[in-house]
Amino acid sequence: MTHLIKNPEVMKKVSEEIRQVSGGKIEVEECDLQHLHYLKLVIKETLRLTPPAPLLHPRECIQDTQINGYDIPAKTRVFVSFWSTGKDPSYWDDPETFRPERFEDSFMNYRGSQFGLIPFGSGRRICPAITFAMAGVELVFAISFTASTGTCRRESPLKTST
Ligand code: HEM
Repeated sequence: MTHLIKNPEVMKKVSEEIRQVSGGKIEVEECDLQHLHYLKLVIKETLRLTPPAPLLHPRECIQDTQINGYDIPAKTRVFVSFWSTGKDPSYWDDPETFRPERFEDSFMNYRGSQFGLIPFGSGRRICPAITFAMAGVELVFAISFTASTGTCRRESPLKTST
């Protein structure tokens, strides 16, 4: 929400999309999420620029290893900063700018295979709840928008499809 307040043109675009998808209906439902394309880009860009946590769970090296000429002895504890990889200029153009459009036509995803975007981690300890978490974030965001823009006419906007 802070990114949207600081970027009113993004706020306008995402609220128009949500209004259009929920238009004529009482509220946004789970089945509408597939049509909220720009909202998904906004959430991806938010996770890139400001992930909920800065570091992955610590790892421990199980054998002596060499990476980029550096010797990493067995038992070394490794902290991976995905706060940094999300802003690494070798992955991202203009990394400090909040620009959801950067994900249009991009194959970059948060499933753990592209290290520029690992808000859910990577490898064996990757977050097992990615799909659940993203659906929850998208739904809550969309519902709060319809509620705040007056599209929703019910007292409680919380409803999921069965
Ligand atoms: C936007 C929401 C969420 C984010 C950004 C997130 C992010 C993460 C991250 C970064 C890790 C560590 C991965 C690693 O070290 O490689 C993790 C682990 C985990 N997450 Fe999530 N998570 C979210 C939501 C959830 C939810 C809703 C649940 C459960 C319902 C969940 C369950 C777990 C569990 C059980 C682990 C530990 C996996 C393991 O250690 O093997 N997460 N999550």
